[in-house]
Amino acid sequence: MAEFDIILYGATGFTGRLVAEYLAQHYGNGSLRWAMAGRSLSKLEQVRDEIGAPADTPLLTAGADDPAALKALAERASVIITTVGPYQLHGEPLLAACAQTGTAYVDLCGEPAWMRAMIDRHEATAKASGARIVFSCGFDSIPFDLGVWLVQAEAQRRFGRPAPRVKGRIRAMKGTFSGGTFASAKASMAAAANDPSILKLMIDPFALAPGFAGPHQPNGMVPHYDDAVAAWVAPFMMAVINTKNVHRTNFLAGQPYGADFRYDEMMVVPGLGEVGRAAAEALAKLNPMSGDKGPAPGEGPSREARESGHYDIAFVAEMSSEERVTVSVKGDRDPGYGSTSKMIAEAALCLLRDGPSEGKGGIWTPGALMPEALKQRLEAHAGLTFTVE
Ligand SMILES: NC(=O)c1ccc[n+]([C@@H]2O[C@H](COP(=O)([O-])OP(=O)(O)OC[C@H]3O[C@@H](n4cnc5c(N)ncnc54)[C@H](OP(=O)(O)O)[C@@H]3O)[C@@H](O)[C@H]2O)c1
Repeated sequence: MAEFDIILYGATGFTGRLVAEYLAQHYGNGSLRWAMAGRSLSKLEQVRDEIGAPADTPLLTAGADDPAALKALAERASVIITTVGPYQLHGEPLLAACAQTGTAYVDLCGEPAWMRAMIDRHEATAKASGARIVFSCGFDSIPFDLGVWLVQAEAQRRFGRPAPRVKGRIRAMKGTFSGGTFASAKASMAAAANDPSILKLMIDPFALAPGFAGPHQPNGMVPHYDDAVAAWVAPFMMAVINTKNVHRTNFLAGQPYGADFRYDEMMVVPGLGEVGRAAAEALAKLNPMSGDKGPAPGEGPSREARESGHYDIAFVAEMSSEERVTVSVKGDRDPGYGSTSKMIAEAALCLLRDGPSEGKGGIWTPGALMPEALKQRLEAHAGLTFTVE
């Protein structure tokens, strides 16, 4: 048995601090052996005190570019949570250490080119050691991954077959982004601008399903009126990562959604007729990640903004023009931080306490490794609801 159930690496960052606060508040009664880790002891001490964690909460230090220190960290934990990003700049040595030592790992990565490189370089090691590595355990992409999984399970139950086409439709979403997310998006854009092979991966919906080329996918970039939600829809920025993760889940699970599965994600825009069209077209032109003026690392939405945030996503499975099933996934905090910090903590606990482990080493999505167990945890503890409508 490892010394710690969970080590949280990056506890001093904007999102990491929220994860630490959640663990301290909800699992600080001695039932969980956990530690906060980062590169600076004094900063860790400050965060521990500010979030009200007990003074004897273990604090561990390691630099993101120090493989020996990270291996030592991985050896002391059953599960590592890492919120140190951009992952393409800082993430590989810790992931490699977990793959080598058989330590379970969850992150918040939404950087597909880096994820594909990690699959190519470390999946075989993780399979051999038994390490369960799970990417994208935040708003990108748990609600989408599990929403599609649930609507397909319902289609299977009602019609005896999966839907060949699912639409993810964001009906409501209130929240903004942090400095770390801004930096990660910038790093992905810079990498794609410098290397055509990275750009190719970014636009390939099957980039995380190595060796599989599925059918042509819906574009998702063109505003249009969508009968499925009786509203205009516009492009959704996070679709780039979510759609790839959804296809990876289908790939890893042996294609329960079918080899001909088609999926896109778009934002529902308020307004009917010409008003709706104009709003959808305006939204399509907006890119909040453009320009250099974003929050700095360590900055993000206020507590008030996090607590008043929320989201509501519909997953419409279209069997034929007449047969449809809709599932909704809702969250009770802003998507990127209030809700994400609860999701990644519960994903780690799921790996620790109820996820499958025997023979499950490898690089996973939550939807392929532990969909039902994680859904139950998120409903019980993290303010998510999953409803068949
Ligand atoms: N999937 C999702 O839905 C989702 C949601 C939220 C965030 N994210 C991702 O999560 C990541 C973190 O975002 P954030 O806003 O929390 O970032 P942040 O506030 O900038 O925090 C980054 C963390 O990384 C640490 N760090 C940076 N360089 C390091 C190094 N060389 N060695 C050790 N630690 C280092 C920082 O330590 P110091 O405090 O010492 O500087 C800090 O703890 C980003 O990649 C973001 O895209 C994803």
